[in-house]
Amino acid sequence: MELIHTVAAMQAHADEQRRAGKTLVLIPTMGALHAGHFALVEAARKHGDYLAVSIFVNPTQFVPGEDFARYPRTLEQDLRALEQCGVDVVFAPEVEAMYPGGQPQRIWVEVEHLGEHLCGRYRPGHFRGVVTIVAKLFHCCKPHVAVFGLKDAQQFVILRRMVRDLNFGIELVGVATVREPDGLALSSRNAFLSPGERGQAVVLSQAVAAARRQIEQGEQRVQAVVETMLTVMAQAPEARVQYADVVDVETMQPVERIEPDQEVLAAVAVFWGQTRLIDNAFIRAPRADA
Ligand code: PAJ
Repeated sequence: MELIHTVAAMQAHADEQRRAGKTLVLIPTMGALHAGHFALVEAARKHGDYLAVSIFVNPTQFVPGEDFARYPRTLEQDLRALEQCGVDVVFAPEVEAMYPGGQPQRIWVEVEHLGEHLCGRYRPGHFRGVVTIVAKLFHCCKPHVAVFGLKDAQQFVILRRMVRDLNFGIELVGVATVREPDGLALSSRNAFLSPGERGQAVVLSQAVAAARRQIEQGEQRVQAVVETMLTVMAQAPEARVQYADVVDVETMQPVERIEPDQEVLAAVAVFWGQTRLIDNAFIRAPRADA
């Protein structure tokens, strides 16, 4: 497995693989890899024959006061695991390589409307940081295909739109959320939970599952669905709910009434202490004639 730290070396390497006729698949990550990330690697294999994983904890997507400094960094362990998975190249730049010379980034990829609700509402600038770094990673790694988790559903919808609106010519693949046996979505941040908090965190997936049942049974009033999610999460005594909402999957705008056959995203974000966890589900309402 190749390990590359500089932009120029990564671009040259990608060019070489492209010339050799390979189909390049990129899996962007911030490291601290877990089974959720490895599911992306497995999915990636079906879409190409040269697998690149990037590992970069991107400072510009952390809002001031968030956990950039304490975000888990486990590079040695990550590299061993990726080698075992048969990944071909890991791109692991330093912050200096991606944001040289301490110069402020002057050119950004801006997100309009799609970041107004859910996580974007509470993390101003977060999605601007995400799309900008992903655009940069695409230019470094030059993939034909890129794989992302649906766990970060709003991120996936926004990136899919970036690729379309800016003509990246890259195919995006979304992979279903990998969960613990009790339903908790795997996340690098789960490591911050105390055993007590870990026990309570099951309410995230339970809330989203309850929303799914209700919508699939024909409930059209979003307020009723939101109340259901809040009731489920109220069972966790120390949970501080940031949001519980239902948005349209294309526009990421709140819905009041779910129309027959409409696809929506039901999503929640909850704090335990400083640790913020999210969960969500893409849900299609029953057809009118169903
Ligand atoms: P990170 O949180 O490391 O996640 C990397 C990828 O793994 C994302 O596409 C995310 O959706 C996916 N992922 C995380 N947990 C998952 C799970 N339980 N099941 C399935 N997929 C999961 O997301 C980021 O990094 C960054 O924002 C990034 C896109 C790399 C830009 O910096």
